[in-house]
Amino acid sequence: MTDHPRNITRHAGAITRGDRERLLGQRGAVVWFTGLSGSGKSTVAHNLEERLAAAGRLTYVLDGDNVRHGLCADLGFGAADRTENIRRVGHVAALLADAGVLVLTSFISPYRADREQVRRIVGADFVEVFVDAPLAVCEARDPKGLYKKARAGQIAEFTGISAPYEAPEKPDLHLRTGDQDLPASVAAVHDLLAARGLFTPSDPQ
Ligand code: ADX
Repeated sequence: MTDHPRNITRHAGAITRGDRERLLGQRGAVVWFTGLSGSGKSTVAHNLEERLAAAGRLTYVLDGDNVRHGLCADLGFGAADRTENIRRVGHVAALLADAGVLVLTSFISPYRADREQVRRIVGADFVEVFVDAPLAVCEARDPKGLYKKARAGQIAEFTGISAPYEAPEKPDLHLRTGDQDLPASVAAVHDLLAARGLFTPSDPQ
């Protein structure tokens, strides 16, 4: 495929994604956790990663709280910056998946259109997981003390308080982390990935 206006041409190497996946004995994929701050996205992602690593799977967790220190350090929390945050992360996740990695992402990603854009960037192996805890539960947990600050007017555009969260309408998986304990949430994601055949490499083309 060529992009003539900018004189940039894609280069395809001899080694394919399928080759890399066979090497690793798994399929690359992006498991996209979305939900309010404090809903449990990172906790589920990291616990799932431990379980997958113990089973010999290569994973990588991309987390908003980390990515925003580097790749997205120039971005804030206005709508346009969140869209750009998710766009960049979507591309990084897609590259890692192309490398054969099982990518677990933990971003509030409050806008439906942004998540749909990532689905288009990543393609077939995109799994959207709605980490759903009621705002009152997230606020009671308040692991970083940010809801308290947001209520006190010390943080502008805080998701759930003064900025919107658009819940997924048809997520691949809906975790109700207010009711369900952590092992059950981790097991539900793990079982969905297994059912999708992500632990076996795709057939040679
Ligand atoms: S996203 O909306 O662009 O997807 P992201 O997941 O990267 O957000 O970052 C969210 C994290 O940034 C939260 O868990 C919280 O620790 C911190 N944060 C700081 N300010 C805000 C804010 N205004 N709204 C939401 N989260 C914020």
